[in-house]
Amino acid sequence: MIAIIDFGSQTTHLISRRIKELGVSYKILSPENIIGKIDKKQTKGIIFSGGPSSVYSKNVPTIDPKIFSLDVPILGICYGFQLTAKLLGGKVVVGKKEYGPSEFQISNFKFQISNDLPKTFVVWMSHGDEVTKLPKGFKIIGSTEHVPFAFVGNLERKIFGVQFHPEVEHTQFGETVLKNFIDICKIKTSEHLIDVKKIEENIKKISGESYVIGAVSGGVDSTVVSVLTAKAIGKKFIPIYVDNGLMRDGTKKHLKKIFEHIDIKLRIINAKKETLNKLKGVLDPEEKRILIGKLYIKVFEKEMKRLIKQGKKVEFLLQGTIYSDVIESKGTMHAVKIKSHHNVGGLPKNMKLKLLEPMRNYYKDEVKKIGKKLNLPSEFIDKQPFPGPGFAIRIRGEVTRTRLDKERKADNIVLDELKKAGILLNVFLSFPVLTNAFSTAVKGDGRVFGEVVALRIVESKDVMTSSWARIPYDILQKISSRIVNEVPGVSRVVYDITTKPPATMEWE
Ligand code: XMP
Repeated sequence: MIAIIDFGSQTTHLISRRIKELGVSYKILSPENIIGKIDKKQTKGIIFSGGPSSVYSKNVPTIDPKIFSLDVPILGICYGFQLTAKLLGGKVVVGKKEYGPSEFQISNFKFQISNDLPKTFVVWMSHGDEVTKLPKGFKIIGSTEHVPFAFVGNLERKIFGVQFHPEVEHTQFGETVLKNFIDICKIKTSEHLIDVKKIEENIKKISGESYVIGAVSGGVDSTVVSVLTAKAIGKKFIPIYVDNGLMRDGTKKHLKKIFEHIDIKLRIINAKKETLNKLKGVLDPEEKRILIGKLYIKVFEKEMKRLIKQGKKVEFLLQGTIYSDVIESKGTMHAVKIKSHHNVGGLPKNMKLKLLEPMRNYYKDEVKKIGKKLNLPSEFIDKQPFPGPGFAIRIRGEVTRTRLDKERKADNIVLDELKKAGILLNVFLSFPVLTNAFSTAVKGDGRVFGEVVALRIVESKDVMTSSWARIPYDILQKISSRIVNEVPGVSRVVYDITTKPPATMEWE
């Protein structure tokens, strides 16, 4: 087993996913009183995660240095590496901040940890601190332009450190680095398969005699959990679509198709007016999410009461929550909150319904894989994710009917042009943002002071990291021309070329 020590990174769980994919079992542990927690017989290797703190600050997570004397291989990632360096006599300082891709070069191929790695490859960084002096016995394995100690190791003690994140999808050969570490721990790797039957059995076991109300949106996550739940409990599953008026065109039609396919009756509840009323005057993105989360629960609880009146036992609300929603909403002890996803951190505290979230520990690409295993048609799986708060978090500032119309028009143009170019399914997300910034334009010899639309098109698999899509210029030109010509009050279109990290995919 591998023990993963969690210092609060957004990607601790992703480390565990990679370990699981290598067919190796793991346990995620918090660093406090670690020596008592570690199963010394079973633990063959230890990974220290990254984290949001600085090792030289006060009251930050640390670890008992006795861990280095357990004679078990250790791999420190980012904060985990910096902490290792500090505790073993090295030095950590405020460094050059680096978020996103960086070119990495191996300088030492002698170590087992660098087996099967090419001389250069791209790694993803997310740090503000840097190790400037290595502890005794450590050697450099590889460096980037700005980080000489990007990958280091003490061969004798089998302690390694990486400043980059081998666990994220965008780091090339990250899995090789982790596999080499597992080999050093002398653990056998094998292929890991997701057990879909087991997920179904769990849904059945948890829900017991109760009916399950399902929050569905037509997105991949809620579709896949719906199909699993329908298979598990049949007509005791009652899917509900809360039409808040913030969704993409065609959502209702798409949903009807899904539930016809699995022969389950879908209930549609119109909450358009109420949503818009609630959002009146609201500017803060967190407030928007929390309002939408609360409104959702209010609708579902009303539905629960109605069903109970009919003599049905209803205890559970099924949600298609996935792990990236959880971690961004401060899912672990040392993690920080990035944003309160409406279905996690945005929920009211005293809910009457218990949550049933079968995909809570899975990532987007795993959910898609499950959908494929369930033989779902491609149109249900191979579609862009769309956030629950919908257009509300793609409109900076107040959400009004007029601004919603504007956003919807621009959104349809982006989708239409990418579809026509045959690349809609190649990108992970594509959308315009009403930025609430204004600029001058000349339209038909007249001056217009209109809104700036930002175009965001990204590539990703698991949502945790993303790069901006290299869309051909002529397609960008078409999208830009159509938006400024066809959407009233728009003065210009800009293209967002920021990776995640540092920028999240959505603007709010
Ligand atoms: P970010 O912007 O966090 O987006 O990089 C990652 C993925 O999550 C979606 N997203 C949300 N989904 N409720 C949701 O259901 C939310 O509050 C929310 N915020 C972001 C986003 O569209 C992307 O797919």
